[in-house]
Amino acid sequence: MVKIIIAVFTLTFFVWSDNAYERHCVSCHRELPTSLQRMFMYYLEIYSGEKSVKVALKRYMRNPFRDVSVMPELFLDTYGIKQPLKLDERELEEAIEIYWETYQVHGRLK
Ligand code: HEC
Repeated sequence: MVKIIIAVFTLTFFVWSDNAYERHCVSCHRELPTSLQRMFMYYLEIYSGEKSVKVALKRYMRNPFRDVSVMPELFLDTYGIKQPLKLDERELEEAIEIYWETYQVHGRLK
């Protein structure tokens, strides 16, 4: 019985709790006209492999610069460059991992 309660509790926790990606990325990106999915596709087109996409994303999240941005000039003129993200290493990696898992399937189908 206790096991069942724990199982149900754990499941509920996973379904309802926001993960690092929802908390740190989606919340802010909701305000932007270009979707996170579209931005992911730009990364996939430019960096292609899983490892290089993740490395490039992590680098940009820490050090966003216009020169390395994948976004169109017009977008950057309007919305500017984002602020470097101040979340700890583990959370950033978790967020990028979930970001990758969320869109890589669609990326392959393109
Ligand atoms: C406080 C707001 C904010 C948060 C938090 C945020 N972003 Fe962004 N992000 C932006 C803005 C604004 C841009 C567009 C300007 C730019 O590209 O620098 C952007 C651009 C991007 C881009 C395109 C980068 C490029 O090359 O220009 C990606 C990919 C991205 N964000 C992913 C993420 C992920 C993943 C997270 C969470 C770990 C995240 N963002 C958190 C505001 C945010």
